Formats: sequence, structure tokens, C-alpha cells
Amino acid sequence: MTRPLPSTFHVKSFGCQMNVYDGARMGELLEAQGLSEADAADAELVVLNTCHIREKAAEKVYSDIGRLARRDGGRPMIAVAGCVAQAEGAEVPRRAHAVDVVVGPQAYHNLPALIAEAAKGRPAIDTGMPAASKFDALPGRRAGNPGAFLTVQEGCDKFCTYCVVPYTRGAEISRPWAAILDEAKALVDGGAREITLLGQNVNAWTGEDETGRAQGLDGLIRALDRLPGLARIRYTTSHPNDMSDGLIAAHGDVASLMPFLHLPVQAGSDRILKAMNRNHDVAAYLRLIDRVRAVRPDIAVSGDFIVGFPGETETEFEETLAVVRAANYAQAFSFKYSPRTGTPAATMADQVPGAVADERLQQLQALLAEQQYAFNRATVGRRCEILIERSGKREGQRLGKSPWLQSVLVDGGAIGDLITVDITSAGPASLMGERPARAAA
Ligand code: 5AD
Ligand code: SF4
Repeated sequence: MTRPLPSTFHVKSFGCQMNVYDGARMGELLEAQGLSEADAADAELVVLNTCHIREKAAEKVYSDIGRLARRDGGRPMIAVAGCVAQAEGAEVPRRAHAVDVVVGPQAYHNLPALIAEAAKGRPAIDTGMPAASKFDALPGRRAGNPGAFLTVQEGCDKFCTYCVVPYTRGAEISRPWAAILDEAKALVDGGAREITLLGQNVNAWTGEDETGRAQGLDGLIRALDRLPGLARIRYTTSHPNDMSDGLIAAHGDVASLMPFLHLPVQAGSDRILKAMNRNHDVAAYLRLIDRVRAVRPDIAVSGDFIVGFPGETETEFEETLAVVRAANYAQAFSFKYSPRTGTPAATMADQVPGAVADERLQQLQALLAEQQYAFNRATVGRRCEILIERSGKREGQRLGKSPWLQSVLVDGGAIGDLITVDITSAGPASLMGERPARAAA
């Protein structure tokens, strides 16, 4: 059955910040085609930008499709984008007939053509990983939030044995120096005050500057530090083995580089790290943390953890708790191991029973929450700048981000402002701030 081309769209992104970035770029592309943004409840096209990292995330898209297919007032055209699209391809419309378009993370610049094809009445699928970069085919950035994302690196060559990313996002690529600086300029011109550089292995970024000199992520950060109007730089996610001396040094002397480091270790047992193919041990990880703290003592350290990896014993899990105690996190993400088809760990012997992994996850999360709360309490009494990102729940209240990436609630200030506040109290997940008497006028 043919259907009219949609004139409105809604993009819903799941999962990581790279998906948030891709979702924004799909939105810009559709706007450049003349479509306008609408709510999920009445958009004529809904793009579900999916995540495949764990089973729960991947299954969520199917309940969303079901809901959209039964939507009051008629079902929209449905496009499944992101990593589920890449991993499942033609299987998606076979399993969920309501799906019109399937488009992978390296092919979404072709979305307009796929929509036109789907309007003729058959599912349109593109999960190609073209040699030419999608970035060259996308329109320029539009004005956005004070905190913007900028993908500088994509894909992963590390092949941790539990992870689907090397299969869904493909091989590691670094975007060129000039393209990144141009995009950063456009974001700042559009109102961004903070840019978070994104990549699955962002600290593996390599390139050449305008003089042809080889550069790493630290060089790129230093160049962005010179960009007028850009006040704050962050980057995520990093692999311990790509934490260069230059990048560590940058944390000590680049003022706009925020004191925050997301450096996943995943587990605290050397045997498990080996089985995960992480290629580093616990001691090397803790040494890195020490070195970063030596140049930037107040840095907030964050991480990712997996509990219940195949074969993980109780003693090995306790080693994870020990590394958490040693590293002392400001915040962290922790997950129960989820077997992913096609990854080596999925067929390893000794899969840990779900109930055991649940119990470990609870213990780990309690410890991490305790550390996060302690880190928050330690900020009370400090004066710092926050970047106001949005309105809070109460009239006149605003929510901003501290240098250490904590949410701070404050009265007054406009979205996009960097204001000085005194941190007056701390909760487990957020802080309260007050503008100093002199600055409040
Ligand atoms: N099961 C559970 N967690 C996973 N992660 C990646 N793959 C899996 C999996 N199969 C976690 C890792 C990674 C984060 C983004 O997701 O901790 O750093
Ligand atoms: Fe996945 Fe490991 Fe690559 Fe991170 S480094 S994306 S966990 S394979």
C-alpha cells in the first residue's frame, strides 16, 4: 500500500550519547528536507534510534513499535535506526510488520531516499557501512542546547568479548581535524558553550592538524580550547589503553577541559579482564587514575562495570568491589552481563545464574551510590561555575551542570548562562546552589 510522504517527524533515541548525537543529526537532515518536528503522539514519521548493547535495550524497541502501530489517529511511518537496525537488518520488518524503514548508524544520511522508497509501500532497508563518510552528506549543524555533542570518532577495534559494538558500529574511524573544528564552530555560533567530544573509543582519536602534523585527542582538545566562545570541553568514552601521556597532561593545564574522566574498567579481577579481552590489568588501570589525579586532584572519575561475566566467582566479584574502593568514583554505570549473539562471551561455559548476578549488581550499586553521595557531599561549600541547561521543576528554578558533571539546582539565571554558585547542600544525585550575594544582583 502506498502512503503519502510524511511532513512531520519525531526522533526517539535510546542508549548512549552517540545515539543522541545521531538522533540530532537525523532531525537536522529531515528539517533540511522540509519536514517539521512534532510530538511522538502525532508525528507522521517516527524514528526509533535504537540500542543493542544489552538484551533489555534491544527488546524495548519492539514494544515501542507495537504501541506506535496501534496509535490513536493512525499509525505513523516507522523507521528503526541505530544498532538494532544494524544487527537485525531485514529481520526487523519480518518480526514487526509495521516497520517501514530500517537504517543503520553508518547509513542514516540516506534516510530521505529510504522514506521515499517506503512510501511506495515496501520496507526500505540500508545497513551498509559505506567507505564515504555519512558526515560529508549531512547538512550543517543548527542552533541547539548550551551543552552539545560532537562525534569525533566512531566504531571500535577492541573486541571485548561481551560487546556488540565492533559489529554494530564497525571499525574505528577518526573524523578529520578540520571537519571537527568546523562543526565545533557551527555549534558555538548556534549557542553551545560546552562541547562533549564523543566516540566509542574517543581517546583513540588520531588525525593531522592543518599543518599536517600528527595529533591525538589532546591536540584536538587544545585546538578547541582556543575556539572563542567555547567555555567547556568534555570527552567520552575512553579506553584505558588509549590514555596517552599528552591527554593526561591536558587534564592538568587546559582550563576549559572539565575535571571529569569516564574511564571504564568493567571488572576488578585480572582473570576476568583477560577473559573479557580488555588487554590491561587492574594495576595499570589504577596507575592511570593516580596519574590523572596527580595533575588534577579534584577530577571526578566515572566508570562502567559488568557483573556476572561468564565464570565470575564470588571472590572475583569481590575484587570488583575492591577496585571500586581503590578508585573512588564520583559516579559510575553498572550492568548485569547480558549475552549478545555473535560475541565470544555468549558461548562461554559457566554462565552466571541471573539471581547471582542480580545480587552482585545490588551490592555493587550500593557501594557506587555511597561513593557518589560522598563525592557530592564533598562539593558542599565549594564555589564553582555551572552551565545552566534547563528549567527546574519549581517556578524560577534552573538546572545547571557543575564542572564535575553534577546536576545543580539554583534560583535564577538564563539557559546557556555560565554562572558562579556556592554549593549549599548535596543529595545522592544532585546539589543545591546559591548565587553569591554580590553576583546575584
Ligand atoms: N552486557 C552487559 N553490559 C555490557 N556493556 C557492553 N556490553 C555489555 C553486555 N553484553 C556495558 C559495558 C560498556 C557499557 C557501555 O555497556 O560496561 O562499557
Ligand atoms: Fe565494546 Fe570494548 Fe569497544 Fe568499549 S572498548 S565499545 S566495551 S568492544
